[in-house]
Amino acid sequence: MSQSEQTTQKPQHYFSVLTYGCQMNENDSEKYADQLNKLGYFLTEDFKKASIILLNTCCIRESAEKKIHGKIGELKHLKRENPNLIIGIAGCMAQKDQDALLKKYSQLDFILGTNNIYDLDKVITNLIEKKKKKILLAQDEPNKEAEETKTLSHHHLNEGKVSTFVPIMYGCNNFCTYCIVPYVRGRERSRPIAEILKETEALGEKGYKEITLLGQNVNSYGKDKKDQPDFADLLKSVDNIKTIKRVRYMTSHPRDMNSKVIDTIVESIISGNKKLCENFHIPIQSGSNYILKKMNRGYTKEYYQELVQEIRTKVPDCSITTDLIVGFPGETEELFEETLEFMKKIRFDTAYTFIYSKRSNTPAASFDNQVPLIDKKRRLKILTDIQNEISLDINKKLENKVLEVLIEGESKNNSSTYTGRTRTNKIVLFERDEKYKPGQLIDVKITAAQTWVLKGQPI
Ligand code: SAH
Ligand code: SF4
Ligand code: F3S
Repeated sequence: MSQSEQTTQKPQHYFSVLTYGCQMNENDSEKYADQLNKLGYFLTEDFKKASIILLNTCCIRESAEKKIHGKIGELKHLKRENPNLIIGIAGCMAQKDQDALLKKYSQLDFILGTNNIYDLDKVITNLIEKKKKKILLAQDEPNKEAEETKTLSHHHLNEGKVSTFVPIMYGCNNFCTYCIVPYVRGRERSRPIAEILKETEALGEKGYKEITLLGQNVNSYGKDKKDQPDFADLLKSVDNIKTIKRVRYMTSHPRDMNSKVIDTIVESIISGNKKLCENFHIPIQSGSNYILKKMNRGYTKEYYQELVQEIRTKVPDCSITTDLIVGFPGETEELFEETLEFMKKIRFDTAYTFIYSKRSNTPAASFDNQVPLIDKKRRLKILTDIQNEISLDINKKLENKVLEVLIEGESKNNSSTYTGRTRTNKIVLFERDEKYKPGQLIDVKITAAQTWVLKGQPI
């Protein structure tokens, strides 16, 4: 038998990664996929085929955790059918719960915290070669050296897609009183600008057309180091990368969003580079100054309104999107009404709305006047109904306009429809035509507007 025949006949080994939570987790999953691939494993979505299953978890709200616990439960039978199967938990819930997860679920082989992202390969090797039984790796401090030096120019999970992510910083220093992120992701660490640019360029060469720069608070990029370029400087540099057509970023903290960033986006449009997109995602969280203060957000609604005014004056065709929490402790009916009034005043293009979820060991978990679930649910419904009306109304004004769309590919539910996004991050659906390919920028005339999508015709 020849060498090549031997290798082709060798059974291949597969891994699956299931990602919960935010884009940062999606990007971490690429890091896991990269390590497993280098160990000789190939990606599969079929759990039955996999020798390694990794759940990359989130603990931002109780609902996220419940879903994940359900999934871990479901994996038990796979482990029973195949005792050699390796099952691991990574991500924010792993960092938070650590050995409690190992104790609770006998089907788990390892727990990998958010400070050990680059150690997955060692964990797998130890489990297989050294026949270790269970591994818990969740150190308190991040591996700064690996974070600074390991750039990923190949994305396995987003392979073939038009758009992907580049982290610019890790962690969060803000300690909003409701939020678990600073406890499971540590303090802010900015990546060196040279690494970010190198990675973005390489991804552009691989064929990605759109890059979203990631951080929990991108506007504080560079502040953790001396003489580091700031976020606006970084945006300006990325705007000059030839291989990329569009650049987005998330998330902005309203307190740290500033004129320099807004002006940089304006310059990008005027200069003709036009990679920086006119979507401003600035989570407000509440429209009541009393609640904002209790949340430790560091701004008032008046400040926020001025910020929106500046953005809308300088970038007239922009979209403004936000996150809102209902039922934060102490939110009375009157304070909730204030949020409704504020939403009507600002008129967000879209709002991601959440029911406040108690996170253990965060300050707000022990605040007085927790709001009963029934009230939270009622408030969420009122809020989303109003927001949907506003979104539809704003979108209706786009009918008959021509917008630049980046084609992403086939629509999920209909292969004869293509889906893409406007610069303002609105989804546009149009009839598929072989003339057009994913990754192309085309002009589309909007023919019908809905709350969440626009329908159009290429011109
Ligand atoms: N760093 C980003 C994202 C944080 S998580 C930011 O500051 O915006 C995304 C959203 O989840 C937050 O904006 C907030 O609206 C929501 N969120 C965070 N903790 C929550 C909690 N305990 N209960 C409900 N929603 C929460
Ligand atoms: Fe959480 Fe606030 Fe940090 Fe966002 S800024 S991750 S909401 S603590
Ligand atoms: Fe969830 Fe962690 Fe992201 S808690 S929202 S996966 S940073």
